[in-house]
Amino acid sequence: MDDTTSADRALRLIRQGRTLRWEGDFQNARQLLTALGRRTRRPRQLNSLLIAMTDYEIRLRRAPDVYQACLEAYGPPDGERLIPLRELLGVIGAHQLRKRGIYLPALDTRIHPHYGVFAPTRSEYVALLANEPLPPAEVAFDIGTGTGVLAAVLVHKGIRTVIATDNNPRAVECARETLGTRAQVIEADLFPPGRADLIVCNPPWVPGRPMTVLDTAVYDEDSRMLRGFLHGVRDHLNPGGEAWLILSDLAELLELRSRAELLDEFQAAGLEVVGRSSAAPTHRKARNDETTYLWRLRPSEAAPFVEEA
Ligand SMILES: C[S@@+](CC[C@H](N)C(=O)[O-])C[C@H]1O[C@@H](n2cnc3c(N)ncnc32)[C@H](O)[C@@H]1O
Repeated sequence: MDDTTSADRALRLIRQGRTLRWEGDFQNARQLLTALGRRTRRPRQLNSLLIAMTDYEIRLRRAPDVYQACLEAYGPPDGERLIPLRELLGVIGAHQLRKRGIYLPALDTRIHPHYGVFAPTRSEYVALLANEPLPPAEVAFDIGTGTGVLAAVLVHKGIRTVIATDNNPRAVECARETLGTRAQVIEADLFPPGRADLIVCNPPWVPGRPMTVLDTAVYDEDSRMLRGFLHGVRDHLNPGGEAWLILSDLAELLELRSRAELLDEFQAAGLEVVGRSSAAPTHRKARNDETTYLWRLRPSEAAPFVEEA
């Protein structure tokens, strides 16, 4: 495939099951990918346009230097590699975002997300936590910390001991970089050992199957993290402690989970709602009818509702 290949011909070959190794000018490959994107939306087809690299060097005309970006995404170079141009552009974009960082007014600082880590590009949920008055709390947990942004807010609000967890090693590394010595970051499935006065969690907002590692922070298969958090949190709270769940109503708008189902889930986990605040998302990709909520939950006095088998 080279500069003479038309988008129609490329797509015909892809539809026959071929993968296309690009030999022409790099910028023309980008244009071809854009043209393909106008003809098909299928990720598999769009991922069929491949770029060759040797130790992260692309030997094509007008190719960018992608060494650092690839190092961050894939680790040390390993010789010849063929990767989908579409993926490579994502790797380059992630590197630029990490370098530039995302400015968060609530912290008056920049957060530098690593490749494969949920980036706080929508800052409304960060402000929601920052603006919520704290109950008395010495120890707080941030479950599924990602870049460590919410743990940083908890530290900023004056909580003395903050422990953050994530089950994605990339997130653990990123959060350690964000938080330094101000908080402890542990690789764990949901909860760290011990108990806290306040436990915060911002799980992926949409129930659904993640297709790539990048999806795991957006899709929560069978609401596993949400349910794991709700059903486990009582056992990790100190008496009088609160669980704060940050969740948008996107899943409700997409009719993937109803409000009643969410409230039933709270009840089944033995939790009651003691407060709720909300914010309208400001991010340009958010739906304009979407609302992000901070649910303040506490163990209910009544025994948890257990469904009979
Ligand atoms: C929507 S992101 C939120 C990240 C960050 N707290 C924020 O608000 O920007 C959800 C995070 O939960 C993590 N996660 C998913 N399942 C988890 C589990 N079982 N235990 C710990 N972390 C988990 C993901 O890796 C991801 O970083």
